[in-house]
Amino acid sequence: MSDIEVIGVVGAGQMGAGIAHVAALSGFKVLLADADRARAEKGKAGVQKRMARAVEKGKLEASAMEAALEAITPVDGLGGFRPAQFVIEAVNENEALKTSIFETLDGVLAADALRATNTSSIPITRIAAKTKHPERFIGMHFMNPVPVMELVEVITGLQTAPETLKTTQALAAKMGKTTIIARDMPGFAINRILMPMINEAVYALYEGIASAEDIDTGMKLGTNQPMGPLTLADFIGLDTCLAIMEVLHAGLGDTKYRPCPLLRQYVEAGWLGRKSGRGFHTY
Ligand code: CAA
Repeated sequence: MSDIEVIGVVGAGQMGAGIAHVAALSGFKVLLADADRARAEKGKAGVQKRMARAVEKGKLEASAMEAALEAITPVDGLGGFRPAQFVIEAVNENEALKTSIFETLDGVLAADALRATNTSSIPITRIAAKTKHPERFIGMHFMNPVPVMELVEVITGLQTAPETLKTTQALAAKMGKTTIIARDMPGFAINRILMPMINEAVYALYEGIASAEDIDTGMKLGTNQPMGPLTLADFIGLDTCLAIMEVLHAGLGDTKYRPCPLLRQYVEAGWLGRKSGRGFHTY
């Protein structure tokens, strides 16, 4: 399928709303679903707020905002996804939930519609195997915040057809994103590299090599990262960082991927980073 006009986004949280935001500004019609209509509406309200801020700053035309908001339709449930030609699922990293969403979509979407998951760590091949059209299934890993980050990591499962990859790359390009292609192995490419770096920063703190402030200042100013690794971990969520390290450790079986005990302890304390008000830094 080449001419995609209607995209379905499942999940209206931070990632889903960000994807809807970029898709609508890129000229697509967007159907936005969450557990219920109210949550989908709330996701759209968040998009409106962020777009309004961009208009205030003079970075977005008011007319472009109006057209984009007009293009986003919150729907009651997945039954409303019938017109979607490409669906991007961006719900929590819960495999059973993701699988059940794609099973439901199998009964709703046209046979030639493409399905993508925004997972950062669940095997694409395994989710695809539970769908009716595994050749039309792919991973589309957007980075947070979606409207700002230029990358989409595209992950091909064992069953993904070359045509599905081509259409996905074209879609991401129309959304103004650059794509890289990764094989369906634990952590894909980005988190395979990023998470061990973050985990190593936590080890440096754990072993008393430097303070959290100095680790972040060092990496920010010394290696030109926009945020130091501990600040980035707080931004991503320490529970998410731990879960991805566990995927790397279990899937690759090498002790170099073992999660730092301090990371685990922070998660046990409920110090999850920015979203809980405290992580390696306080907010
Ligand atoms: N939605 C839309 N726009 C946003 C935004 C959001 N949630 N957050 C920030 N922005 C915009 C701001 O409006 C601002 O726009 P303008 O330049 O047009 O004014 C711009 O981003 C910069 O924001 P700020 O000035 O507030 O702050 P900053 O300069 O410190 O940048 C940042 C913030 C973009 C988040 C920057 O610190 C950064 O790039 N950090 C690294 C982010 C990163 O690495 N993300 C990937 C995480 S890993 C991941 O997502 C994958 C995974 O699986 C774990």
